[in-house]
Amino acid sequence: MKKRWQDSYTEQVHILMPEHINGSGRLFGGRLISWIDVVAGVTARRHSGRDVTTACVDHLTFLGPAHVNDIVLITGRITWTGRTSMEVRVDTFTESGGVRAHVNRAYLVMVALDENEKPVPVPMLEIETDEDRRIWNEAMERKEERARRRE
Ligand SMILES: CC(C)(COP(=O)(O)OP(=O)(O)OC[C@H]1O[C@@H](n2cnc3c(N)ncnc32)[C@H](O)[C@@H]1OP(=O)(O)O)[C@@H](O)C(=O)NCCC(=O)NCCS
Repeated sequence: MKKRWQDSYTEQVHILMPEHINGSGRLFGGRLISWIDVVAGVTARRHSGRDVTTACVDHLTFLGPAHVNDIVLITGRITWTGRTSMEVRVDTFTESGGVRAHVNRAYLVMVALDENEKPVPVPMLEIETDEDRRIWNEAMERKEERARRRE
C-alpha cells in the first residue's frame, strides 16, 4: 500500500510567550527543536500508523529569529520512505504584522516500531507530481550522505 504526503501532512501553531524566549530576546533554539521533533513524530505516525522514534536529526538550519508575540507555524511533510524509515521535512515560519518569514528547515529520519520496539515496514510514499519526484530525489541524496557518514 502507498500513501500520499498529504495524508500525513501536519501543522502546529504557537504564539511565542516570554517563557519561550532566551536571554537574547529570541526564541530558544532548544524549545524549537523539541517542537520540530513532535511535528516530525506526528507526521511519521500518521504515515506509518505506528509508534515511531527519531533516528536522526539532519540539516537543521536556523534561517532567522523569532520574537515574543510572533505566531510560529511548524509544518511536517514526508519526503521519502525506506523500508522502515521515513524522512520528514519540518519547516518553521513566523508571522508578524502580516508578514511570513521562513526561519528554520530540518530533516528528521523517523523509524516505525512494532509492539516489541523493533523496526517495522512502512507504506511507500506515493509520487504523483514532478515536484514530489524532485523532493524524493533530493531526499535520496541526503540518505546516501547519511549512509556515508555512518560507515
Ligand atoms: C533507530 C533505531 C530504532 C534503529 O534500530 P536498528 O536496530 O539499528 O535497526 P535497523 O538497522 O534495521 O535500521 C532501521 C532503519 O533505520 C535507519 N536508521 C538507523 N539508524 C539511522 C541513523 N542514524 N540515521 C538514519 N537512518 C537510520 C536504517 O537505515 C533503517 O532504515 P530502512 O529500514 O528504511 O532501510 C535504533 O537505533 C534506536 O532505537 N535508536 C534510538 C532512537 C531514540 O531513542 N530516539 C529518541 C532519542 S531521545
